[in-house]
Amino acid sequence: MRDPGKERDYPLAGGVLTTDFAEIVDDPGIAVVAEVMGGVEPAGTYVLELLRRGKNVVTANKQLVARRGVELFATASGAGVQLRFEASVCAAIPVIKVLRESLVVTNVHRVLGIVNGTTNFVLTEMEGGKSYDEALADAQQRGYAEADPTDDVSGADAAAKMAILATVAFNSHVELADVEYSGITKIDALDVTAARQLDMVIRLVGAARLVDGQVDVTVQPAFVDKQHPLAKVDGAFNAVMLQGDAIREITLEGPGAGGVETASAVIADITSVIGTMGTGFLQNDAAWRQLPKLPDGDSTSPFYFRLHVADRPGALARVAEELAEREISIARLLQHQNGNGAALHVVTHEAKVGALRAALAAVGELDDVHGCSTPRPVISDRGVAELGWA
Ligand SMILES: NC(=O)c1ccc[n+]([C@@H]2O[C@H](COP(=O)([O-])OP(=O)(O)OC[C@H]3O[C@@H](n4cnc5c(N)ncnc54)[C@H](OP(=O)(O)O)[C@@H]3O)[C@@H](O)[C@H]2O)c1
Repeated sequence: MRDPGKERDYPLAGGVLTTDFAEIVDDPGIAVVAEVMGGVEPAGTYVLELLRRGKNVVTANKQLVARRGVELFATASGAGVQLRFEASVCAAIPVIKVLRESLVVTNVHRVLGIVNGTTNFVLTEMEGGKSYDEALADAQQRGYAEADPTDDVSGADAAAKMAILATVAFNSHVELADVEYSGITKIDALDVTAARQLDMVIRLVGAARLVDGQVDVTVQPAFVDKQHPLAKVDGAFNAVMLQGDAIREITLEGPGAGGVETASAVIADITSVIGTMGTGFLQNDAAWRQLPKLPDGDSTSPFYFRLHVADRPGALARVAEELAEREISIARLLQHQNGNGAALHVVTHEAKVGALRAALAAVGELDDVHGCSTPRPVISDRGVAELGWA
């Protein structure tokens, strides 16, 4: 702590508080240290020093693990001590332990997550009719969002968590810089209405996939089919869906933040360390790989996008032609008259994002097209026929 004189809302035995790091690292009686101070520095320097000096470390610090995981895991492995970090992802939801222990021999190949409660709350409130600004102000008033919500709404917080989940799920180092992310700041009422008309909801979804031995990790707003388990995650809750060879699908859902929730995960990690100290249990990080990143543009998904077109014969045919030229086919189409023009809501079949970007750049050049929304991935476990789109 920084201020030992600060009034705390819990009782403390005398002599247990210190502001001096040396008193902790030099004390041979301390075997496990929990780092809950946050921030990359000085927390990183402290954690590395503790590990080098043979102390097990438990941390709740997603930014630290996501940015400097390679160095931290190598140091822990080299010193023969444990680094546990359950609280760093979704607080009370036990997803790290499940991936590292329960599913250690399952080839998990896909992780989908709603891993940021603030944005999930905002998007849920927008479904109920609030504007983005009103929903964010409500989240701040209820304590779900910080006064400066940038990290949450930009997707950066979720990206750090997805980097950690991908690392543990695929046994391969993934750092924050490897995650492509975007946030919810550009989601508006038109998007929310479009999703509703398609029987979907908008969620900020983290997706980590193993594709032919390459890792693909993204965080972006997605259109989620209302029948999909992630569509039912409302308000500030989090959920992580794990898909693998032997397990098919497991979804873990619960409170992803909060003081008590985070503390419960930190203390559980301390207990696990104490129970397994000196046994070598979980010191398998040296076996982690460095799998290549899927090349930019190769990521595939069905997508939703919206076009504003002139209401002229042949406009739709020209759009379809540009898509077909890049092997993108349309799964569903809604058209709404809009003054002199029309809004086209398009859902594609599975397509490469690079091909879609190229197609939409070409579509944007057509005389008949006056505007195009950012394409959003569509998440559904149901086939096109089952969705009633065929
Ligand atoms: N709260 C959540 O919902 C949640 C969920 C998941 C993960 N986390 C993670 O948990 C960590 C802590 O979050 P929090 O919300 O509990 O933060 P917090 O309320 O700001 O608490 C941070 C604590 O660390 C101490 N501290 C900060 N900088 C320090 C320094 N340089 N030297 C010594 N002590 C220092 C502070 O001491 P003083 O009290 O003396 O200022 C305070 O007790 C972060 O890594 C966060 O990302 C939090």
